[in-house]
Amino acid sequence: MLRDAVRSLAEAKIAPHAAAVDEEARFPREALEALVANDLHAVHVPEEYGGSGADALATVIVIEEVARVCASSSLIPAVNKLGSLPVILSGSEELKKKYMAPLAKGDGMFSYCLSEPDAGSDAAGMKTKAVRDGDFWVLNGVKRWITNAGESEFYTVMAVTDPSKRSKGISAFVVEKSDEGVSFGAPEKKLGIKGSPTREVYLDNVRIPADRMIGEEGTGFATAMKTLDHTRITIAAQALGIAQGALDYAKGYVQERKQFGKPIADFQGIQFMLADMAMKISAARALTYQAAAASERGDADLTYQGAAAKCFASDVAMEVTTDAVQLLGGYGYTRDYPVERMMRDAKITQLYEGTNQIQRIVMARNLP
Ligand code: CAA
Repeated sequence: MLRDAVRSLAEAKIAPHAAAVDEEARFPREALEALVANDLHAVHVPEEYGGSGADALATVIVIEEVARVCASSSLIPAVNKLGSLPVILSGSEELKKKYMAPLAKGDGMFSYCLSEPDAGSDAAGMKTKAVRDGDFWVLNGVKRWITNAGESEFYTVMAVTDPSKRSKGISAFVVEKSDEGVSFGAPEKKLGIKGSPTREVYLDNVRIPADRMIGEEGTGFATAMKTLDHTRITIAAQALGIAQGALDYAKGYVQERKQFGKPIADFQGIQFMLADMAMKISAARALTYQAAAASERGDADLTYQGAAAKCFASDVAMEVTTDAVQLLGGYGYTRDYPVERMMRDAKITQLYEGTNQIQRIVMARNLP
């Protein structure tokens, strides 16, 4: 029922704008409004904090169905989970109450600020500092590749509070867009997910109350990693949705397109390609849903499962969307058809929330 409901909404209210959102590299405002109106923008927020209390699998299904028509729009529910999960996992009761209510209501989105210009895969090598000053912390630094930066009201920011301790000297904070000293860089000019702004976040003497720290001092890196264990599964969901969208479109096209006097779907070479695409998507979906169940239960092998699902599903998304372009031939290579957008959008899923090379490091260190 959830899938059917999200699919009809996505097809009616989000899909019609997907090409323009990509072409004009503009935020999918229509999608945000439709998702908020239907309580689908941050379904993971627990009921006790005013949310819908969707479990990890339901959240995956929402993201998958939105991504099937518009990957940029699927970053709304996905990044709302990524940005707010540190608070849900490790924040005080006060922080949860304060920030989950506006998120659930649709009054403010959440972004996640871990990466920096010189700290991508090596996240613990960050330089952004937080220095204690009485009842406040003062933050200085630059965060890069921040999804939905500028659009979000709230930011989970990881910063160094003790430079001598590397990962154990990193703490997490909630920073608000309206805090003095917060500003944003120009939107990055990207290959895909053009509707989702990716910008730097500048922290210039941002002075925030000490109770905005998430969890204990020095636990920020562990919180950031625990968050990714859960949310890499949402990237797998996004990849899965993009791949399904490309397969669905290609499946229709090959039945319409005639060459040598018959639909190209009648050629076995085409049929084999479609069969492989469907088979890979089925495998990615099984892995992703299994990881979502592990996330919900908090299984001991979640770190492995999240990395495996994200890595596998994103590789599948790249393969399937590339094959979809192939099936449409020259038409697939133009912006008159959606599959080239899907191919460009798929690429990011192999990169963000940790490159697929990092996923293999994570899997190797946490073999089941
Ligand atoms: N759960 C809990 N704690 C964890 C953890 C986990 N999964 N992983 C690490 N930690 C904690 C542990 O306390 C560990 O200390 P111990 O050794 O005492 O256990 C400490 O962190 C340090 O861990 P590592 O020694 O493994 O740290 P490392 O420096 O070797 O880095 C890494 C590990 C896996 C490479 C990590 O840096 C990483 O995941 N890098 C990729 C970063 C990434 O995914 N960035 C994505 C940015 S967000 C994004 O893309 C969002 C977007 O826009 C949509």
